[in-house]
Amino acid sequence: KPAAAADGANGVAAVGTMTQEELKRVAAHRAVEMVESGMTLGLGTGSTAAHALDRLGELLRARELVGVEGVPTSLKTEAHAALVGIPMLPLGEAARIDLSIDGADEVDPELNLVKGRGGSLLREKMIEGSGGRFVVIVDESKLVPRLGCTGAVPVEVVPFGCAHTLGLIRKVFDGLPGFSARLRTVASKEGGGKVEVPFVTDNGNYIVEMFFEDGIHGDLNEISDRLLRITGVVEHGMFLGMATSVVVAKKDGTVVILH
Ligand code: 5RP
Repeated sequence: KPAAAADGANGVAAVGTMTQEELKRVAAHRAVEMVESGMTLGLGTGSTAAHALDRLGELLRARELVGVEGVPTSLKTEAHAALVGIPMLPLGEAARIDLSIDGADEVDPELNLVKGRGGSLLREKMIEGSGGRFVVIVDESKLVPRLGCTGAVPVEVVPFGCAHTLGLIRKVFDGLPGFSARLRTVASKEGGGKVEVPFVTDNGNYIVEMFFEDGIHGDLNEISDRLLRITGVVEHGMFLGMATSVVVAKKDGTVVILH
């Protein structure tokens, strides 16, 4: 369905099969070509977005870009952007966001996304959904026929009563074969790596991970509404109709831009 425009990968000739990390860098650099001096940017989170931060830092230091400011989508991105010299401001102080650049966990044929397996979905959705263009950068392994095909769909929940909220989330998919949901946990440092504790987001919340046997069938907007109506759910990682374009780096090193 989306119109595809193939072009060279940032002037890099296609040579053999590139590693996934190289593909992430290629997609990130192509998106950064869309940045103009004076823009306010949404700065994404994750390993692909990290390549965009590095490239932006290079261009700012070389003064090929001037007057660019970024709004970081996570504390990790804030630290990275500071390290590479990207001036930043908080969301509340940005008059507008011109362009956001971020990775994704999954991209479906309608350019709906799963995001937030890195745990930053709430700030990402607030910033990337606040207007302006939202350019998604992925290697082609992220293209899926249906959301929820390749792993967890995260839901950010408040810690209070999280077991109760988890039960309500399960009810949304009652009887769906192969569906499961659980609280995301990490090994605690205090427990010598043996004790699991809830993963805590930058906002002090927890994450429920939803798993689907064969991806999410059905009306995504309806599912989104049902999840958001649960008191205790803060936000979910389905980014529906938000991406304005998706820069896909293919294994042969070429880049396709989906609109
Ligand atoms: C973080 C995200 C990331 O964009 C997503 O997880 C993709 O990460 P990566 O580029 O490392 O594959 O949503 O919350």
